[in-house]
Amino acid sequence: MSLYLVGHWSGRNDAAAQDERAGWLSALQEALPHEEWLTQPPTDAAQAAQVEVAIVANPPAGSLQGLPNLKLIQSVWAGVDKLLSDTTLPAGVPLARMVDPAMNEAMVHTALWAVLSLHRRFFELAVQQREAQWQPLKYRRAAEWRVLVLGLGELGGRVARALAAQGYAVSGWATRPVSLSGVACVHGEDALAWELASANTVVNLLPLTLSTRDFFDARRLGQMKKGATLVNLARGAHVVEDDLLAALDVGQVGHAVLDVFQQEPLPTGHRFWSHPQVTVLPHTAAQTDARTAAAVVAANLLALRAGRPLLHEVQRQRGY
Ligand code: NAP
Ligand code: GLV
Repeated sequence: MSLYLVGHWSGRNDAAAQDERAGWLSALQEALPHEEWLTQPPTDAAQAAQVEVAIVANPPAGSLQGLPNLKLIQSVWAGVDKLLSDTTLPAGVPLARMVDPAMNEAMVHTALWAVLSLHRRFFELAVQQREAQWQPLKYRRAAEWRVLVLGLGELGGRVARALAAQGYAVSGWATRPVSLSGVACVHGEDALAWELASANTVVNLLPLTLSTRDFFDARRLGQMKKGATLVNLARGAHVVEDDLLAALDVGQVGHAVLDVFQQEPLPTGHRFWSHPQVTVLPHTAAQTDARTAAAVVAANLLALRAGRPLLHEVQRQRGY
């Protein structure tokens, strides 16, 4: 049987993505030295029948058709929204997503940087420097800065705890009741409305599903406290971009730190690039690290072959 490595690494298909793919192959071969690997689409039915596991990074739609003995689809991305939007994805085959320790750490760093920058007004100070202005800004204590984290899973839960450890007044929102030390965890629409109206910064770490697409539309942005700030580290399709631009233009949203966009790369000329109240990151909040993620893939292959429950299996009907 063989393991099939397929996809567009980093969501791209250029020379850098080819290098990244080669790095993945080498990390996976080191973690799984006795496996047979297929790195190009199968050339005939016999080769296709050999594929036991597909290890995928953002694969083009249709890539996983015609693999009759496929037993596991292992994503190396945490979010599986794009995979699940492929109507040809084999229906009965378990799908596991990536939960990578290095990615978790990177996401905490990005969220801390964004919240600190907004709370301590470092983005404003950077503008002042460009204008050679020396003007200390009023100090605000972390305990006076309310942060709402949307999604309290692998990433959101860690981010919420890390922010609380820095002294921020942190609330978190998820589908179900959760208990996290130092974090006021809530669920339900009423609680969300209250939290949106109170937070100085909202950090989005929800998965993209049917119920979270277009989450930040004019109505929800209008529920936020006037001048509050938004940090979107999850998916671009959580945000109705024109609604966010309108909210930024009138100061309803004070600043947005955006790592993800409806269209990536963000098109040249898009207003986010030049908007003074927007900070753009190129979908780099937390990348999977092949060196740590290869061990997660290996553990799942062992679990599959031993008939044990898989790690981080996606519940397809709920979308994450
Ligand atoms: P996860 O472990 O599956 O956690 C998802 C969280 O969202 C859970 O707390 C879940 O609550 C909550 N949730 C889901 N649907 C909800 C809804 N409709 N209302 C309220 N809460 C809801 O996911 P994760 O590993 O933390 O990753 C989150 C997302 O981050 C990924 O899906 C991906 O899109 C994004 N991501 C971005 C980057 C980047 O570089 N920008 C990197 C990695 C991941 P329950 O468990 O209570 O249902
Ligand atoms: C990155 O966005 C991921 O989902 O892993």
